[in-house]
Amino acid sequence: MTGTPSPGPAHLILIGLPGAGKSTHGRRAAKQLDRPFIDLDKRIATTHGRSVANIFAEDGEAAFRALEREATASLALEPPSIVAPGGGWMLSPENVALVKPSSTIVWLMVSPAAAVSRMGVRIALRPLLRSGNPVRTLEGLLEKRRQRYAEADAIVDTETLSWQGVVDALVALAPPI
Ligand code: S3P
Repeated sequence: MTGTPSPGPAHLILIGLPGAGKSTHGRRAAKQLDRPFIDLDKRIATTHGRSVANIFAEDGEAAFRALEREATASLALEPPSIVAPGGGWMLSPENVALVKPSSTIVWLMVSPAAAVSRMGVRIALRPLLRSGNPVRTLEGLLEKRRQRYAEADAIVDTETLSWQGVVDALVALAPPI
């Protein structure tokens, strides 16, 4: 049969710098919405039996990005969910094309300094932030990524809102199902 392809599932996808709170806020919004929560980096690690840090260290970033694309493609088989990919996900137009137009992408905005203070010791789990000054590194990433992040359907400023305020904003932005 020919015609327009059927639309994919309507996910809510949270993007932004490491430390923006994509997983934490995403998990809470999912609970409030009674929808599944998917941490895309955890899914990659579980599927391949290796941590993201290990994949970066042994196979390099390009190999990780290929697995990230594969995990994004698998979202087509999921019911409408709240999805938290890693901070570099939005840089790939292919990733975005895989979830559009059905899903809603939201940029969780945070300053590099606040992101570093939120991550605390968990910063050691982030391969891109392991060496050098993490605030400077995040400033550099933000500079390079700002334009792509700004292509999100909506922006939620995680610093001017309370934790519950961020969750409420995400619940309101979740695509209807
Ligand atoms: C990355 C962010 C990480 C992880 C990988 C690459 C990035 O996820 O996907 O280390 O390019 O910003 P978090 O944003 O959850 O730290």
